[in-house]
Amino acid sequence: MINRELIKKLNKEKGLSQKEWEQLLGTFNEEDRAYAASIARKISLNRFGNKIFFRGIVEFTNHCKNNCYYCGIRRGNTSASRYRLSKEDIMTCCDEGYKYGYRTFVLQGGEDNYYSDEKIVDIISTIHKKYPDCAVTLSIGEKSRKSYEKFFKAGASRFLLRHETANEKHYEKLHPKELSWKHRMNCLNDLKDIGYQTGCGLMIGSPNQTITNIAEDMIYMGKFNPQMIGIGPFIPHKDTPFKDYPSGSMEMTLFLLSLCRIMLPNVLLPATTALGTVRDDGRKLGVLAGANVIMPNLSPVNVRKKYMLYNNKSVTADDAGENLKLIQKNMQEIGYEIVVDKGDYKEM
Ligand code: 5AD
Repeated sequence: MINRELIKKLNKEKGLSQKEWEQLLGTFNEEDRAYAASIARKISLNRFGNKIFFRGIVEFTNHCKNNCYYCGIRRGNTSASRYRLSKEDIMTCCDEGYKYGYRTFVLQGGEDNYYSDEKIVDIISTIHKKYPDCAVTLSIGEKSRKSYEKFFKAGASRFLLRHETANEKHYEKLHPKELSWKHRMNCLNDLKDIGYQTGCGLMIGSPNQTITNIAEDMIYMGKFNPQMIGIGPFIPHKDTPFKDYPSGSMEMTLFLLSLCRIMLPNVLLPATTALGTVRDDGRKLGVLAGANVIMPNLSPVNVRKKYMLYNNKSVTADDAGENLKLIQKNMQEIGYEIVVDKGDYKEM
């Protein structure tokens, strides 16, 4: 089958075989990509109109007990200047964000045991009580099912945990032995089971990733049926073992965004910061490829540079309002607008 037919088949059947995925991902050209983007965009416009949700990310700690080979805040990076935000700092970020229309707060951090379950629960419930009309999303890594349940009860309703790769062997090439692919996959199952709107995802072009692997990721995501998917290019960080690997391909990233939109029409799909880092207009291209979410930074300006997962991460010194104005302008330029909305996942 030619690639165009495979894309049509994906749209109709919402899945492809491993072989078909490998063909499509291994041989697509610019025309195929434009074709997939046009279908993906139609699907998004149909479900969400020209509306883009925005979520405020609060990067509350860059301490991390893990040592992932790709990540700039890995514990082995002694050059990283570490920080933690207090509950008061975090609330200030939310207060600021709320004024400008943010209705989702994403608490993102390294795996930092300083924040006990009790502390996390306290932070979640404080936000939840003060802003009952907002969603609290967690992006804090692997925890026990018990902890996930406590956070859910406290008012967190969404959780982002990228699976990173659906292939165990590949997982082991990205992470040290103490981290287990099976454990990560179990975490994702627990999260969904508990009732979180759950996000998985991966980096495109991570070292040793093959077309076969990405095909496996697509099949995994089709089965897991996540409410959110985070996809961005791998970007090297100078103080990591992967410092000399090249960045992932922009084209492949955009193509995958489109294919995710076609396969899972309702999925909440951000045009990620990493996408905006490899190209200035990356987020615009992401939206034009089928993304419907943008996640601006709400962290205090003085810590932003310290949350460096990869080199050149686009960091602005703009406050929540300025940041949003720029995004608004960017979106208007391509015929979209950002909306003040909690933006929960909806089946249609
Ligand atoms: N390049 C791109 N994305 C990265 N992440 C971590 N390090 C990098 C990097 N060097 C992504 C991972 C992780 C998320 C928080 O950020 O996929 O899950």
